[in-house]
Amino acid sequence: MKEDRERAPLAEAVACYAAEQVTRFHMPGHKGGKGISAAAARIMGRRVFELDITGVEGMDDLLQPTGVIREAEQLLAQAYGAEASYFLINGTSSGMQALILSTCNPGDEIIVPRNMHKSMVSGVILSGARPVFVSPEVDPDFGIALGVTPEKIAAALAAHPQARAALLINPTYYGTTSDLTTIAAQVHGRGLPLLIDEAHGPHFYFHEGLPPGALTQGADAAAQGAHKILCSLTQSSWLHVKGGRIDRGRLQAVLAVLLSTSASYLFLAALDLARLQMVKEGRAILERTIELAERLRRGVRQLPGLTTFGAEYCGRPGVKGLDPTKVTVGVKGLGLTGQQVELYLRYRHRIQVELSDLYNVLFIVGPGNTAEDIDKLLAALAALVKDEAGRRERTELPPALPPAPRQILTPREAFFAPAESVPLAAARGRISTETVTCYPPGIPILCPGEEVTAEIIEHIEVMKSNGYRIQGPQDGGLTRLRVVKE
Ligand SMILES: Cc1ncc(COP(=O)(O)O)c(C=O)c1O
Repeated sequence: MKEDRERAPLAEAVACYAAEQVTRFHMPGHKGGKGISAAAARIMGRRVFELDITGVEGMDDLLQPTGVIREAEQLLAQAYGAEASYFLINGTSSGMQALILSTCNPGDEIIVPRNMHKSMVSGVILSGARPVFVSPEVDPDFGIALGVTPEKIAAALAAHPQARAALLINPTYYGTTSDLTTIAAQVHGRGLPLLIDEAHGPHFYFHEGLPPGALTQGADAAAQGAHKILCSLTQSSWLHVKGGRIDRGRLQAVLAVLLSTSASYLFLAALDLARLQMVKEGRAILERTIELAERLRRGVRQLPGLTTFGAEYCGRPGVKGLDPTKVTVGVKGLGLTGQQVELYLRYRHRIQVELSDLYNVLFIVGPGNTAEDIDKLLAALAALVKDEAGRRERTELPPALPPAPRQILTPREAFFAPAESVPLAAARGRISTETVTCYPPGIPILCPGEEVTAEIIEHIEVMKSNGYRIQGPQDGGLTRLRVVKE
């Protein structure tokens, strides 16, 4: 008999329901694909609709699982060494929001990195928590934000003895990790839970050549983007908890508030199968993935004007470890921006990067990549170096961030305050209701509730005139800013 962990009970149950050819008088309206248009059938295929069921008899309930979903979640917890795991159908974002809402009441302090992801901003808005920011280290050559140091966490804990939790991003988008073992000991020393945004690290648990997973280093919870790195469907993620510092009853209640009442069984089945794939073949898949990424790194190092980093990068402040499957390629030596390289690769070579910023492009090498993909990419980069180098002005690194502004309101208070849009120059001395982030380094210059200072306005103007991508405000060009009405 197959060992339990080698089964995907939830995916199998979905497939059985489809195979039974039940006459469906339930949602969704397409009734197993029978009602779809010819265009939908041609573009999406019928199978996806056959499997698209809802919480009918025997298929359990994501918000209160007692049957097949619970069984699949238990297998997931076992795979990660967690004590409880939860499927998420609203992305890792819902996991971050759930962790903040489970640990903070309105007005409570939570320690977060200044480069918090949007989902953490929404988590603090929903909960009413007051963020205590810890600035991440920044790499001066690549211009990217790295992890946070234990020293900065210790200082934040000492200065904010009332804080209710610490929440960190580990790894960063670019694959660098912080010293979580030390940080977990510090945070636990204060009796607080350590919560981890492990959106980019669900594979860490399945290969010794990757940095250790957060849960193996003492974290109390980790939300992971199973769709980002593993082979699940986009928007599907999961959340793990371990130990007694998180109230699981409250967490379950929060998830019931945040998640849809119509969970997609396509997502749930894909999650179950992604877990099974990792348990059965994760090590071998990751071995191959790491080799491919190293092949890419070696190739990039041969190309003049391009830079990258690998294992030698570890050990500097904010870089305890590095996920080798993330390959950052610095392009400023060519006199090009990362965005220009992204477009060149896409439209000249039909290659799509994960992201680009002013100085870099980031490639995620994953289970679906092949040696041919890497060779195609290296040939395209070689052509780039030959065709495009030196045609444009050299770009300089971003100016240092202005001093952190005063936090006058909590993000929630600012979010709900009456607001008005004013010209950026007139925003001096007002309270921002928006987040303003320039890429790189992707660290907010302003968060909701913070005072807009003259230095901040000047910094934004410099970043705008130098072509930096600015994210967050409703007015994408940032000629205006939404501030609290006086
Ligand atoms: C660091 C980090 N955390 C959280 C998220 C949110 O994940 P999702 O898009 O699955 O909601 C992302 C998404 O890119 C991310 O990069």
